[in-house]
Amino acid sequence: MEKTLIQLKDICKVYNPGENEVRALDHINLEIMEGELVAIIGQSGSGKSTLMNMLGCLDVPTSGSYYLHGQDVSHLKDNELSAIRNKEIGFIFQGFNLIANLNAVENVELPLIYRGIGKQERRKLAKEALEMVGLGHRMDHKPSEMSGGQQQRVAIARAIAAKPPVILADEPTGNLDSASSKEILQILKDLHSGGRTVILITHDDKIAEQAYRIIRILDGKIESDRKNDKILESREEIK
Ligand SMILES: Nc1ncnc2c1ncn2[C@@H]1O[C@H](COP(=O)(O)OP(=O)(O)OP(=O)(O)O)[C@@H](O)[C@H]1O
Ligand SMILES: [Mg+2]
Repeated sequence: MEKTLIQLKDICKVYNPGENEVRALDHINLEIMEGELVAIIGQSGSGKSTLMNMLGCLDVPTSGSYYLHGQDVSHLKDNELSAIRNKEIGFIFQGFNLIANLNAVENVELPLIYRGIGKQERRKLAKEALEMVGLGHRMDHKPSEMSGGQQQRVAIARAIAAKPPVILADEPTGNLDSASSKEILQILKDLHSGGRTVILITHDDKIAEQAYRIIRILDGKIESDRKNDKILESREEIK
């Protein structure tokens, strides 16, 4: 049976309350089930990253409630939020966020340290993740010694190494050429096929069209939320 993963109830995020306030999220109601592949699309400034920070427990709402696996996480303290992040969520940030003086396998290992995973197990998980993204032959390369697509794959390996159930990706193909974008999207689709929940943030219709559900946001509000018939039909054909 389908289980609810995420439930947002009337979420608002207001920056700079008062005269210059920005209502980045404006009464958002949203439910995402376990195992979905969802795209969140909207133009620059529409609130996508704010929403991702909220979904990823990097930030708390100004008002409203967020239930993750049925637990209200909207009023938790920093240390409680970081415990949830460590257990549940793998982040792929816009612009990779790799550490320049660490090689690929060390970059992937880094968050595993915060998860309290021992050295040998860390190295094993990091190598597995890099192999999964096709970088088994670049383990000891530093970011400056890799192409943009390879760096993004290291960032994906870092997000998935601890096998978190939820993957949040903010413009994962934003800086990439179309061939690399295709590879990255394929990796995200494979993660989804393997049972993960994947939430993909983009401003690009072509990328959003790869997802099974497309949520469009505008000025901090959900403008539309629809199943992607095109991709669902093409899947029927394969069956
Ligand atoms: N820390 C902040 N303080 C004040 N305003 C902010 C802050 N962060 C974001 N905003 C504002 O909130 C709105 C939503 O920003 P957000 O970063 O979520 O947009 P986005 O959809 O991710 O845009 P982009 O596609 O350019 O990344 C914007 O108007 C932005 O200026
Ligand atoms: Mg953004």
